[in-house]
Amino acid sequence: MPAMSEIETFDYVVFGATGDLTMRKLLPAFYHRFRDKQIPDTARIIGAARSQLSDEDFRERAAKALRRFVKPDALDEALVQRFLGMVFYSSVNGAEAESSWDNLTRLFGDDSRDKIRVFYLATSPELYGRICENLATKQLITPSTRVVLEKPIGHDLETARHINDQVGKFFAESSIFRIDHYLGKETVQNLIALRFANPVFERLWNADAIDHVQITAAETVGVEGRGDYYDNSGALRDMIQNHLLQVLCLVAMEPPGSLDADNLRNEKLKVLRALKPITAADVPHVAVRGQYGRGSVGGDIVPAYLEELGEGRQSDTETFVAIKAEVHSWRWGSVPFYLRSGKRLPSKVSEIVVQFRETPWSIFGSKLEPNRLIIRLQPEEGIQLSIMSKDPGPDGMVLRPANIDVSFEKAFSTRYPDAYERLLMDTVRGDPVLFMRRDEVEAAWTWVEPILKAWESKSGTPHHYSAGTWGPDAARALIQSSGHAWREDMK
Ligand code: BG6
Repeated sequence: MPAMSEIETFDYVVFGATGDLTMRKLLPAFYHRFRDKQIPDTARIIGAARSQLSDEDFRERAAKALRRFVKPDALDEALVQRFLGMVFYSSVNGAEAESSWDNLTRLFGDDSRDKIRVFYLATSPELYGRICENLATKQLITPSTRVVLEKPIGHDLETARHINDQVGKFFAESSIFRIDHYLGKETVQNLIALRFANPVFERLWNADAIDHVQITAAETVGVEGRGDYYDNSGALRDMIQNHLLQVLCLVAMEPPGSLDADNLRNEKLKVLRALKPITAADVPHVAVRGQYGRGSVGGDIVPAYLEELGEGRQSDTETFVAIKAEVHSWRWGSVPFYLRSGKRLPSKVSEIVVQFRETPWSIFGSKLEPNRLIIRLQPEEGIQLSIMSKDPGPDGMVLRPANIDVSFEKAFSTRYPDAYERLLMDTVRGDPVLFMRRDEVEAAWTWVEPILKAWESKSGTPHHYSAGTWGPDAARALIQSSGHAWREDMK
């Protein structure tokens, strides 16, 4: 692991601390940073939620979470105990201005006012405004306090604006960290390096050389225990509006003047604003939604989405989305950017495929496969460039594709940190470069909203697909209509 500098000590309060995200992601991420000596012993991680728990009860839950979600070779019992010594719990009803707040405020004496404070809101987004108001009323906001907002920020443009307005009354934009964990993924950041530190790619990064781009985030899991949240959200809000559009921005943006947060975010914003608007009439031609039925994933028969929701439930919520987007700019012309995300697909993989144009003419007599650059975000982070090469042997000029393959994990022989590790530390450092600015979130909602509205207007229902397949046939037809095909042969 490269040397890591210790960060300043802090008090980190997580609202929604008994939830899945805290247990599965946040606590393990803090533990890893502590293990790498990035967090000093004097830091405090304070879980806040409505359940009546003591510090000890919460530590027990935290210990269980670490045993479950941290790989055994990184678990050291003595270290776990030291880490748990930094963990506290406060039973507080964040949305109500009631006396339960005393449980939290009493943890913050005058002597802690100079320490960095972070309030991470992992609750339902409707509560963000009220929690911030309470933080202000209880005088918990100091000059070095930041607030972190988990996605989704709102349910649509209007609710997103409302939340941003509410939070904005109590925090300056520079202290608001809207998290999109895809931006914390190493390979997503590496995309910036790949593009702007390697002129060999950047010279070809335009409509003259690129035929189309595919961005896929596929999952094998269903909705697990999150049915209520998910059914109210669906894949468009859960994955496309944030994660996939952010990745699209990094693929399509112009080089920022520097890596300064605003420079980078200005360029991403320009991409979001250059996305060809989708009208209600366009929706059936450029967007496909699907919902999984029963099927086999990894050899196991898994229930349909509706069965997972519970007996007798009906729902039109989409668990799969495919969209054809276009970035209307000088660089991209009408190059299609296909976005695809779904649950219960055959493999867990997130990747970007940049497909280059075909040769104008083949001197080999046979059709040549176009070059493809595959940027693998997870698992097995790396890049692969497919090239046509001669098949060895005396049979003449027979060509077939071969791959130039770089596995980042092997190249750098290091553990790939979870996205939250980097992002949590950035919130303490106060570095917003990998967080979404208000205008970006609102521009992303503006673009997806016509699709949401068209689907909600009840015209049609999601296409069926069997769990364990690459989504409905309509998704294939969407891309085939422009002469393209989804990459489906990834493991
Ligand atoms: C979350 C979504 O933001 O991202 C989940 O709410 C999804 O539904 C998850 O499973 C996927 O993240 P990753 O890092 O596993 O690709």
